[in-house]
Amino acid sequence: MTSRPVIEAYRTVSEDPARAMALPGVAYTDPSVLEAERERVLRAGWLPVARLDQLVNPGDYACTDVAGAPVVALRDGAGTLRVLSAICRHRGMPVVSGEGRTDVLTCPYHLWRYGLDGALLSAPAMRGSEVFNPKDRRLPELRSEAWGGWLWVNADGGAGPLSEQLLTLSDRLAPLAPETMTTVGVIEMESPWNWKVMVENFLESYHHIGPHARSLQLTHPGLGTFEGEGSDAFTVLENPPADPHGHGFVVACVFPIGLMFFTEDEAPVGAWYQMDRLQPDRFRLRIHLLASPALAGLPGFAEGYREQVAAVHSEDIAVCEGVQSGVSSPDYRPGPLSPLERPLWRFHRHLARRMSGQ
Ligand code: FES
Ligand SMILES: [Fe+2]
Repeated sequence: MTSRPVIEAYRTVSEDPARAMALPGVAYTDPSVLEAERERVLRAGWLPVARLDQLVNPGDYACTDVAGAPVVALRDGAGTLRVLSAICRHRGMPVVSGEGRTDVLTCPYHLWRYGLDGALLSAPAMRGSEVFNPKDRRLPELRSEAWGGWLWVNADGGAGPLSEQLLTLSDRLAPLAPETMTTVGVIEMESPWNWKVMVENFLESYHHIGPHARSLQLTHPGLGTFEGEGSDAFTVLENPPADPHGHGFVVACVFPIGLMFFTEDEAPVGAWYQMDRLQPDRFRLRIHLLASPALAGLPGFAEGYREQVAAVHSEDIAVCEGVQSGVSSPDYRPGPLSPLERPLWRFHRHLARRMSGQ
């Protein structure tokens, strides 16, 4: 059954980009909309769960959630990358959290132990139970695929192969070699706005003229930006430099939630924005800072780059918070989108199609 807010949330989405409008307020506030997005968009899509450089050695793991369900990405003892449900098959405690390295996943509640392939290895004091069979108690494995230096997960198992959907994005990013980049830091914060406000803010540089007037606007003027490659699976936002001898940067979203940017310098840097613990009006944001190997080892580089990204993001915080308060008001009415916001239209169209079962 599709609730009224779910129907309302995507009613303004047009197939014609010249008629593109912002989304209605319920899209950003209503719990039933998020519930439907979890099922039809987030579980049905490909989501980045970890960088491969977090999972180099056997036993390396990193935790997140997919549409609210805890998962762990890991490299098992044989070197295979896997994404497992992290929900204990006893009474539901997440068996692992954070990131690190381990031989075995031991649930902190009653110490049931699982192998890195998900098999239940032991469970204390279960002998008297007639309904306990260790073979029925595996941690389920979710479908995963490596692309671009990330491990991605498709929770419902129904999506087409990721790399086939991203052929033209792979071509566009090839000169920047994102798969070779190293994680040099993580900026983590609670973000009190809907996850789509974050995606939308990320996918247009029109606002360089506003909150970034004294930073990005000087180097990459907002009104010179445009959508490059795009499909129903992703969009690319091109940001040419103000200085003709300078370097641009490229922003991309692998729908629905795989946000990344890369500079086009000789030694590029980048970042991906990992969003989890989604609620209608908040989520946890982790900005993973990436750099080409030539830069990653330079003394002081990581600290300087972190400050730079944090400073630009702090300019976005005020507008994202402001938008969340505006769209939460009964007086908000969706407005028309600029051609500079074409990637938002493409994002909205992706969502509308998934939400209506296409
Ligand atoms: S909930 Fe995990 S061992 Fe009990
Ligand atoms: Fe911004």
